[in-house]
Amino acid sequence: MADPALSIRAVTAGYLRDLPILFDVDLVAEAGKITTIIGPNGAGKSTLIKAIAGLVPVTSGTVRHGGTDITGLRPDRMAAHGIAYVPQTDNIFRSLTIRENLDLALRRAGLRRDAIRARLLAQFPALQAKLGDKAGSLSGGQRQFLALANALATEPRTILMDEPSAGLSPRAAEEVLEMARGLTETGVTILLVEQNVTQALRLSDHCYILAEGRNQIDGKAADLLGDPVVAEIYLGGKRLRVGA
Ligand SMILES: Nc1ncnc2c1ncn2[C@@H]1O[C@H](COP(=O)(O)OP(=O)(O)OP(=O)(O)O)[C@@H](O)[C@H]1O
Ligand SMILES: [Mg+2]
Repeated sequence: MADPALSIRAVTAGYLRDLPILFDVDLVAEAGKITTIIGPNGAGKSTLIKAIAGLVPVTSGTVRHGGTDITGLRPDRMAAHGIAYVPQTDNIFRSLTIRENLDLALRRAGLRRDAIRARLLAQFPALQAKLGDKAGSLSGGQRQFLALANALATEPRTILMDEPSAGLSPRAAEEVLEMARGLTETGVTILLVEQNVTQALRLSDHCYILAEGRNQIDGKAADLLGDPVVAEIYLGGKRLRVGA
């Protein structure tokens, strides 16, 4: 088998050196697939994504991307390694126009800038229609499209997406997740954190469940959807999110 796109081995990480949030976490994301991370609030899902993106220090373990060790690489080096990160919140500049958001994201695209912009706007027609509008005026779903377009501006091989459907209507959530699925058809690898568990499992290839900063269960998404234990804890009408 070829190298997986992303491989995380025994990663311990946290915001403070002697206060780990993640303990010996393992995860593999295959190229061109959607791998989803689910788990309760505070499980460490965002922390894991940030540790991969170089935003949270990794105290032990390794993060490899396409066979290259990227553990502890600075966040601003990630794009050069083909990785884009779409944060859970504040993932666009609301006071700037859509055009300005895209131009910022395209600032390192050099001569390819116009071609990439044209391709992104063809991919996201809703943005094309509102280029001069402030990003803050977009609907929730359109904001996620803009965040995704910004991420795609660096032509990544792997996109880390943290809860892109949070706060969206079921229909907008479906559209955003379908867009993610469509990207994998172009060979992009996606590591997705999701709270819409059933929806996420339906469109994912592989799924990891994290709780209290540790791996719990992982498997093919289709198998987990049919797993009675997973169904009982995470699907069967029970709340995954505390307070939801
Ligand atoms: N900037 C930070 N500094 C210190 N601790 C933090 C920071 N951000 C998160 N934490 C802590 O790390 C733990 C894991 O949080 P994290 O945000 O990774 O969880 P999550 O699984 O993404 O939860 P949610 O479903 O609510 O998004 C929590 O105990 C949280 O309080
Ligand atoms: Mg989170």
